[in-house]
Amino acid sequence: MSKTAMIFGVTGQDGSYLTDLLLEKNYDVVGVVRRSSSPNTSRIDGHTNNRGLTLVEGDVSDSFSVSQLIEKYHPDEVYNLAAQSHVQTSFEQPIYTWRTNAEGPVYILEAIRKHSPDTKFYQASTSEMFGKSYNSRKSSSWGDPVIEKFQDENTPLMPQSPYAIAKLAAHHSVRLYRQSYDIYACSGILFNHESERRGELFVTRKITKWISSFVEWVMTQGLDFDVKHYRFDRDGFYSNREDFSKLRLGNLDAKRDWGHAKDYVYGMWLMLQQEEPDDYVLATGETHTVGEFLDVAFAHIGIDDWEPFITIDPQFYRPSEVDYLLGDPSKANEKLGWSCKIGFEQLVKNMVDSDLGKFSELLRSPLF
Ligand code: NAP
Ligand code: GDD
Repeated sequence: MSKTAMIFGVTGQDGSYLTDLLLEKNYDVVGVVRRSSSPNTSRIDGHTNNRGLTLVEGDVSDSFSVSQLIEKYHPDEVYNLAAQSHVQTSFEQPIYTWRTNAEGPVYILEAIRKHSPDTKFYQASTSEMFGKSYNSRKSSSWGDPVIEKFQDENTPLMPQSPYAIAKLAAHHSVRLYRQSYDIYACSGILFNHESERRGELFVTRKITKWISSFVEWVMTQGLDFDVKHYRFDRDGFYSNREDFSKLRLGNLDAKRDWGHAKDYVYGMWLMLQQEEPDDYVLATGETHTVGEFLDVAFAHIGIDDWEPFITIDPQFYRPSEVDYLLGDPSKANEKLGWSCKIGFEQLVKNMVDSDLGKFSELLRSPLF
């Protein structure tokens, strides 16, 4: 008999990749979609006619709807990916973020405890919970010893945003329900993962979307990327005919451990297939600045110096920043047999190519 999995947050980046994976594994997937005035299912529209996928309405901030869904479906596995997931937004909307990210998971855990105690539960915890905290160790590379900073399951948690504080409350709730009520509940402490389906306000996708519209603009004007064709000012640049806005960004020095979402949803699934529930870090073990992301993304369209095309806009600075994330996924490597397949450069190139669409081939043709 096939298993039933319920996904809260099915319409998001991770929800869509997890849906692909679970349908491939012949699960019956119940995807919880929150009500919106216009369609919000574009990432999973490819499965519209798949009888394995049932979409139901629900909202994690509404305990009643959560409880009813768990009671009705008695799922084998529940994945809670639903969240207000944008860190900067959480500074503007801390209460809303708290309700969704901290209270929502407790509603699900309570519903499991009352109506379906054999259900296995996955909670989307995050590397943001580390905040400014890290461990250090000497790495034994050639030459002088290097001090490597990293985060793993034992690193103290010191959240730096309303988003991360709410996620930390949920993280501890998972541990508490596991210990107190013997519920199979796991938290995946996932470092940043991106993809061609990433939300457009996260820095990676913001960059790749801007690049694609820039390439389209250049091509439709019959120009190329040589800066001598343009006049630059602080906010934009001008050809003889038209102007184009620069890419507006905040802190380019922040370091992130960026992997591909497809690898990470596989790790989520593995966590629910073990003998005993536990918490795991999923990460690549590499870190890069936002500037390095720009290097690879612009180099992929043939631009070595991106500085003329960027403007630093203070509105994208956060009241409190997480400067450095580098995850050590050793526990997941050893116990789950999990590792990343898609590396940083490949991730960036895939995202650029996907946003470029048809312009990707034109860009590399001898005609350009
Ligand atoms: P995402 O693309 O922003 O998706 C969030 C999902 O949550 C969307 O489906 C959204 O629905 C849904 N949602 C928001 N509020 C809801 C509510 N009140 N009730 C029901 N659903 C609600 O985020 P993601 O990148 O896929 O991340 C998935 C989860 O992992 C999130 O919890 C995030 O905080 C966490 N996480 C992400 C990363 C990362 O780097 N991607 C790393 C660590 C942890 P709509 O489509 O209607 O907006
Ligand atoms: N969004 C955004 N927009 N970030 C910018 C910008 C900009 O214009 N300019 C610089 N940044 C910097 C941010 O200050 C941050 O240091 C870094 O780019 C990454 O920002 P985001 O892409 O918004 O991701 P995040 O690291 O804050 O949060 C993501 O990863 C977390 C895991 O560590 C989200 O997916 C969270 O939901 C997730 O928990």
